[in-house]
Amino acid sequence: MSDEQKTSAPAASPTGASRMWGGRFAGGPAAIMQRINASIDFDRRLYAQDIRGSKAHCRMLVAQGVLAAEDGDAILAGLDRVAQEIERGEFAFRVELEDIHMNVEARLAELIGDAAGRLHTARSRNDQVATDFRLWVRDAIDGMDRALAGLQAALIDRADEHAGTVMPGFTHLQAAQPVTFGHHLMAYVEMVGRDRGRLADARRRLNECPLGSAALAGTSFPIDRHATAAELGFERPTANSLDGVSDRDFALEFLSSASICAVHLSRLAEELVVWTSAQFRFVGLSDAFTTGSSIMPQKRNPDAAELVRAKTGRVIGDLAALLVAMKGLPLAYSKDMQEDKEPVFEAADTMELAIAAMTGMVRDMRVNAQAMAAAAGAGFTTATDIADWCVRALGMPFRQAHHVAGRLVKLAEDKGCGLEDLSLAEMRIVEPRLTDEARAVLSVESSVASRTSFGGTAPERVREAVADARRRWSGPAAP
Ligand code: ARG
Repeated sequence: MSDEQKTSAPAASPTGASRMWGGRFAGGPAAIMQRINASIDFDRRLYAQDIRGSKAHCRMLVAQGVLAAEDGDAILAGLDRVAQEIERGEFAFRVELEDIHMNVEARLAELIGDAAGRLHTARSRNDQVATDFRLWVRDAIDGMDRALAGLQAALIDRADEHAGTVMPGFTHLQAAQPVTFGHHLMAYVEMVGRDRGRLADARRRLNECPLGSAALAGTSFPIDRHATAAELGFERPTANSLDGVSDRDFALEFLSSASICAVHLSRLAEELVVWTSAQFRFVGLSDAFTTGSSIMPQKRNPDAAELVRAKTGRVIGDLAALLVAMKGLPLAYSKDMQEDKEPVFEAADTMELAIAAMTGMVRDMRVNAQAMAAAAGAGFTTATDIADWCVRALGMPFRQAHHVAGRLVKLAEDKGCGLEDLSLAEMRIVEPRLTDEARAVLSVESSVASRTSFGGTAPERVREAVADARRRWSGPAAP
């Protein structure tokens, strides 16, 4: 058989005529058509949302007198049975039935007979899938928010523990000024807090129900869209049927929020990679989050951190994939939109794993306070403190004070010692009005203790920030 023959060969039964949409089709699709068209391999993950949506639709149809109560009861019982079969792994998903919607409906027909065919009154797969997917993404947002709250709790606990642990703060990855490790960790609490805020914000806009938009134009049946929206936990029905079936901005907002969050996780992961290196030794990870090398016995590699860093690429890729899939689509539904699910599933799975790994590493890491303290003073990191002292005590303009501090750095550099190792006599060569009090500001402890401005690194401020964060982030995120 040539390739061409193979790809145009008909798929296994059913033929067009027996398919759900097959009234005007004589033949079945080519095997390759079935492969490109079917989404059941991935959209089966929507089964719970699909059944929930169908039950809400069914109840509403009965309440509106569109569907007889007996048929409604049979449909509801049948749908419960289908859900059970899927949960028990007894359900035979069939690729020739394309997607989750038709797989569920076909099984419902086997179970309850003709009444199953009445469920699709006043709806279409277009509003059905849009509803299912919103429900799924809403759950994914809630799950991610819970996971991020757990990460914040881990960061806050460790920050509390290390509110007074000094380390070098960096700019350009050059030692800049001493900070406290607690302060550094609390920076990530803020970043993750905004990630949660973005998710909460996206959730608010997502929370409208497309069900009842039908194929694109609405329906002639007297449906009650407010009732289905309320039953499914939505704030309201979507206001425009064309929009309801054809936008996926809610998925894009989820993916963009996830991407930004992934970038945050990646930066922390990168810091863990740097901090655990032999050159830094600020932090150690346990056996639980590292691997060894098969050739170099001394190695302990921060693989989990590296993988959190790398997985960012997938999530950003997922966002890019869906943005591009959507950008050329005329209203309303196009089959392109079936490609919305895999990126969202992948991003949600990736984020779940990455957040859990990061939470584990933060809770697990051993902090080497000695190494941090030693590094905190290296590189003349308290030069700004002596400049500030000259401004405060001598009334010098800051630019001039900066010059004095610079000359002290030069002196220490020439001597091959730290700023705090200079004697007062040596310092007075640069500026005769310097005193012992000026020398005292050169210690890293006094440096961090002096940075008491709101949001600053002083241990007392960090402890306040910790207490405040525990209050702010204990409940669900507010946008
Ligand atoms: N599996 C489809 C999707 O995910 C369901 C909607 C199909 N609608 C249609 N008109 N072909 O998009």
